[in-house]
Amino acid sequence: MSIKIVTICGSVRPGNYTAMALELAIDELKKTPGVEVTPIRLESLDLPLPGLEAKNPAAIEQFQQTVASATGVLLASPEYHGGISSPMKLAIDNLGFPSVLGDKPVSILGVAAGVIGAIKSTEQLRAICAHVGAMPLPLAVSIARVQQVFDAEGHCLDAATEKYIRRSASNLIDYINHAVCPKISLEAILREREAG
Ligand SMILES: Cc1cc2nc3c(=O)[nH]c(=O)nc-3n(C[C@H](O)[C@H](O)[C@H](O)COP(=O)(O)O)c2cc1C
Repeated sequence: MSIKIVTICGSVRPGNYTAMALELAIDELKKTPGVEVTPIRLESLDLPLPGLEAKNPAAIEQFQQTVASATGVLLASPEYHGGISSPMKLAIDNLGFPSVLGDKPVSILGVAAGVIGAIKSTEQLRAICAHVGAMPLPLAVSIARVQQVFDAEGHCLDAATEKYIRRSASNLIDYINHAVCPKISLEAILREREAG
């Protein structure tokens, strides 16, 4: 069984640091056997504000289907004004009501320029995920002073922080392997027994 992970980058700023951090998590996922990764960049989606008609409904449908078919999701948001970014909130608001994020294990990665890190945005994201019925993982990875962690080309300058960022990916896979996959196998066994 292949594990499908969808990642969403919550910054659309050219040269943004959230994508640099997320790139390490994506690399970690790609290195893991049996894992398929679909990175979603919001700048190309032209998401409508909630309640307004989409300019490209097929793209929104595709976005929802991609998330719906994922085994798990990794959400990476910058901290903007003490909360998650508006692109990240808009992405979640475009995932349906009820949300296709419901039931998904979600790993949260937060990136901030400030010294306290992305504490407020990761907590907010955790609350929103729980509210829509998703399963946010207990450990949210928050990166502080991100401009000192990466150079302008996106190279990570601190080995310990790189390891920590990669955990946002490996924790999600561990959770899926230990909690989600056994549940799916058990359900399949029970269904087979009932059928036989
Ligand atoms: C609108 C806006 C608000 C921001 N508010 C905060 C903040 O509250 N706390 C903080 O540490 N950094 C704040 N920042 C800085 C971002 O955390 C910083 O740009 C960081 O690189 C992550 O964003 P990025 O992925 O867009 O680069 C803000 C940046 C923008 C554009």
